[in-house]
Amino acid sequence: MNVPSTNTPPDLTSNPTLDEFRKVVRGRRSVRRFTAEPVPAEVLDDCLELAMLAPNSSNLQPWEFFVVQTPDLKARLAAACLGQNAAKTAPVLIAVVARPDTWRRHARMALAQWPEQKLPDIVEKYYTRIAPIHYSQGPFGLFGAAKKTAGLFVGLARPVPRGPYSPNEMKIWATKSTALAAENLMLALRAHGYDSCPMEGFDECRVRRLLKLPKKGLVTMVLAAGKRSEKGVYNRQYRFARESLVHYL
Ligand SMILES: Cc1cc2nc3c(=O)[nH]c(=O)nc-3n(C[C@H](O)[C@H](O)[C@H](O)COP(=O)(O)O)c2cc1C
Repeated sequence: MNVPSTNTPPDLTSNPTLDEFRKVVRGRRSVRRFTAEPVPAEVLDDCLELAMLAPNSSNLQPWEFFVVQTPDLKARLAAACLGQNAAKTAPVLIAVVARPDTWRRHARMALAQWPEQKLPDIVEKYYTRIAPIHYSQGPFGLFGAAKKTAGLFVGLARPVPRGPYSPNEMKIWATKSTALAAENLMLALRAHGYDSCPMEGFDECRVRRLLKLPKKGLVTMVLAAGKRSEKGVYNRQYRFARESLVHYL
């Protein structure tokens, strides 16, 4: 299979059908037991490419993916995932990691890798001047605190962005985009005929140490991936009634 890169322009000549989309979304379930069948490398690559097409804040792509397939490391990672069946049986585990700390380097990359010949002035201004104001928190978070104070006053008169104003808010910032990439990854696996289970049940200290993760990286989820085994789905899918959670104002 030829894995199209994220930077290949999409084919917009035919629309995906709603039925196919629904099949992918409805077919995705959290699978707790997998068969031993491996996920082919091209499938994994394609799913990761599709994951990376998730919408993300300022296109700063604050995520990284750590793919674990070697039996020894995988067994140790499964143990750090509290020995969950999904982790123990999956042929692949993927740590989906949010990076609140890469925005400065990624802003430079966004400029260097702009996909058209001419870099629009507004884009250059955004990544060189606006993003640093928006995302810097300064030593001890002091710049963030100053931005928050200024926001309180200016915000009395007009709408202003209310953050991110601290290193903790940067963690939320990075985690939002990374969670969207995780969802793309799970849907892409389903579209390829594979399954997944997102897990937050893990010992983050152990996962971090085991995978030698970057110091400021946050493990948003560990995804188990593979083919569902016969009894891999534990119960029927259900959700609360739409009326209780959706509010048309
Ligand atoms: C952030 C997050 C963390 C989760 N952690 C776990 C987990 O540690 N173990 C597990 O078996 N399922 C985990 N799940 C799966 C949920 O239990 C599952 O999505 C939910 O019950 C709905 O079922 P469905 O995904 O099959 O629709 C997690 C899901 C999310 C989104």
